[in-house]
Amino acid sequence: MKILAIETSCDDTAASVYDDLQVLSNVISSQYFHSKYGGIIPELASRAHLTAISEIVSQALVNASQSMESIDLLAVTVEPGLQGSLVVGSSFAKGLSIKYNKPLIPINHIEGHLYSSMIDNKELKFPFVSLVVSGGHTALFLVYSFSEYKVIGLTKDDAAGEAFDKIAKLLGLPYPGGPHIDELAKSGNPNKYKFPRPMLSENNFDFSFSGLKTSVRYFLQKNFPLNDFGTEIHNISASLQEAIVDVISQKSINAALKHNISQISISGGVSANSRLRNKLSENASKKGIQLFMPNLSYCLDNAAMIGFLASKKYKAKPADYVDYSFTVNSKPLRAKSK
Ligand code: KG4
Ligand code: ZN
Repeated sequence: MKILAIETSCDDTAASVYDDLQVLSNVISSQYFHSKYGGIIPELASRAHLTAISEIVSQALVNASQSMESIDLLAVTVEPGLQGSLVVGSSFAKGLSIKYNKPLIPINHIEGHLYSSMIDNKELKFPFVSLVVSGGHTALFLVYSFSEYKVIGLTKDDAAGEAFDKIAKLLGLPYPGGPHIDELAKSGNPNKYKFPRPMLSENNFDFSFSGLKTSVRYFLQKNFPLNDFGTEIHNISASLQEAIVDVISQKSINAALKHNISQISISGGVSANSRLRNKLSENASKKGIQLFMPNLSYCLDNAAMIGFLASKKYKAKPADYVDYSFTVNSKPLRAKSK
């Protein structure tokens, strides 16, 4: 069974062919131009998807040595994300599906990340704890099967990636700032400055990162009023990265221990963070917990994870996908404030 999957929920136009056992192609076109605005401009994102999508889908078919005739199913991200961006991918997929008379599987982007460590790691088995950390989400799940999972923790405000990006902006770094902070932190001292570890001591699995951002803002205003960080930017980056990494790794380990689960998966853009990968892997193994991470090409937004999950969903319940009665939904997952 060959699946053509399309993902356009944010600022990456992505397409992939998945054949049940392996990813045959994984093509991504990233909209780097948002960098000059310091963040994503939704209106420009949807226009750029419209320009790119046809070429990206063709490229995914060519790279997989397939044509539309040899594809059995289509899959597309329909939630959550930027409304206009979601509409471009889902309309394109719906058009192909009608023209070629193939079933279309609507997929939730977060669910795509949730299972993405399973694409390459055959040893990752249910149940596992899954941490999705991206620019839009920070969420902890207990995952029991491809159709059953429970949300046990959510961010109340900013997502971890959003915190990296907003703090990076304060440091004068380009958008998205996460990878820049990761790089600068490699030659910095993570213990030089003590930033808060929000909600770490609370007895739940929710997150909150907006206070950390404010605390870094005040710290910078007080100590670097001219925004002249010099080489100290390495120590600042390492210290604030350590605060974020400590919170998300400790909460994930606590969730596994509390629920007596011995496997953790991390996914989403922030799971590309080198310090998070090392520290969580080290701390988890001290507790006898195994850590699974997607291959780096499936960490950031991609369509391979959408095709992978669609193949599992379709196989379980093919009768659910005989019409096109889905709509797009932009609303992110957030914890309720008390
Ligand atoms: O999953 P993703 O590609 O898109 C969303 O669904 O949001 O994640 C993008 C986020 C951005 O906030 C970016 O700064 C962050 O992932 N990110 C990183 C790293 N690489 C990407 N954050 C920290 N360290 C990294 N190496
Ligand atoms: Zn994502």
